[in-house]
Amino acid sequence: MTKSILKALAGEKQKVPPIWMMRQAGRYLPEYRETRAKAGDFLSLCYNSELAAEVTLQPIRRYGFDAAILFADILLLPQALGSDLWFETGEGPRLSTVKTQADFDNLLKPEEINETLAPVYETVKILSQELPKETTLIGFAGAPWTVATYMVAGRGTPDQAPAHALKNENPDLFDDLIDLLVKGSIEYLSHQINAGAEVIKIFDSWAGSLKGKDFDKYALEPCKKIIAALKSKHPGVPIIAFPRQAGERYIGFAKKTGADCVALDDSVTADWIARNVQGDGCVQGNLASSHMVSGGAELVDETKKIVKSLSGGPHIFNLGHGITPDADPNNVQIMIDTIRSS
Ligand code: CP3
Repeated sequence: MTKSILKALAGEKQKVPPIWMMRQAGRYLPEYRETRAKAGDFLSLCYNSELAAEVTLQPIRRYGFDAAILFADILLLPQALGSDLWFETGEGPRLSTVKTQADFDNLLKPEEINETLAPVYETVKILSQELPKETTLIGFAGAPWTVATYMVAGRGTPDQAPAHALKNENPDLFDDLIDLLVKGSIEYLSHQINAGAEVIKIFDSWAGSLKGKDFDKYALEPCKKIIAALKSKHPGVPIIAFPRQAGERYIGFAKKTGADCVALDDSVTADWIARNVQGDGCVQGNLASSHMVSGGAELVDETKKIVKSLSGGPHIFNLGHGITPDADPNNVQIMIDTIRSS
């Protein structure tokens, strides 16, 4: 029996769309908070293969999602390339910055990342043995542009200004950084596939701040290169691309990059997606994650609307972005019941 996520990614329209959620293993779940406390902190949890597998499995046990996403972070790759990485409580990630040629020269080579990342591959291995047979295991990496925005600024930024500045002022250096991240991502994702990941997702959370030719050069091209390399090494492993906030640039993104599926945020409507994107293949999304906090009739109505609008083609139900720590776990169950009974 083919798993429902794989059917959707192969282009099959299904009566009930398969479901998973970005950040489904996370702070809104009491069992996650408990395991994180046991690990000590977030990064220790990422590198503890047994506990990382445990938190990946928690939302599968609680809700029976159709996919599990490896518990890790997009910033483990820069860390494996030699950046310092730590998390400030309540604030988010901090990294040593890459702004000069000397900073760049201190980074490691793409093939040198695997020693640091070995525990992540081990998590994938454990999961491929322990997941229910109907559940698909998704591996992931950040897209080069998004990862570069954190490496250049040393933190999350509202407008990615430091990365834009480096790209404009020292394009050669910036292009070298993107190229290193393309090669590092291929290495990282290839190892995840070898360890048992069945699908790959590429998160370009800040793609929306790239305009005009920059979008092609820094969002589309790197994604296309990663996908081409993975497809030649691992034909048959489907790839989901998430150029968040791409707006009109979502149109044709799958065709141009070779992705099997485009994930969309909630700045576009499901009707718009059906008209403009779903014709090219599977789409994933796009319920606003705020409904997981507010619940009520609007959650049910909006969920039904998305299922109905995208029922004419292949669809994986997901949120438009990650579920937030203040979400009510009961609202997740309401969303799932609404989808499965519609
Ligand atoms: O989706 C999943 O459940 C899988 C695991 C996963 C995490 N981060 C765990 C995490 C995935 C796929 C990510 C991706 C990620 N990480 C992205 C791209 C997707 C997106 O959200 O736009 C980005 C930009 C990051 C970088 C990152 N990691 C930030 C900015 C933060 C801090 C913000 C926050 O939500 O606290 C993290 C921390 C992080 N990554 C947490 C989790 C569960 C929270 C850490 C904690 O437990 O304190």
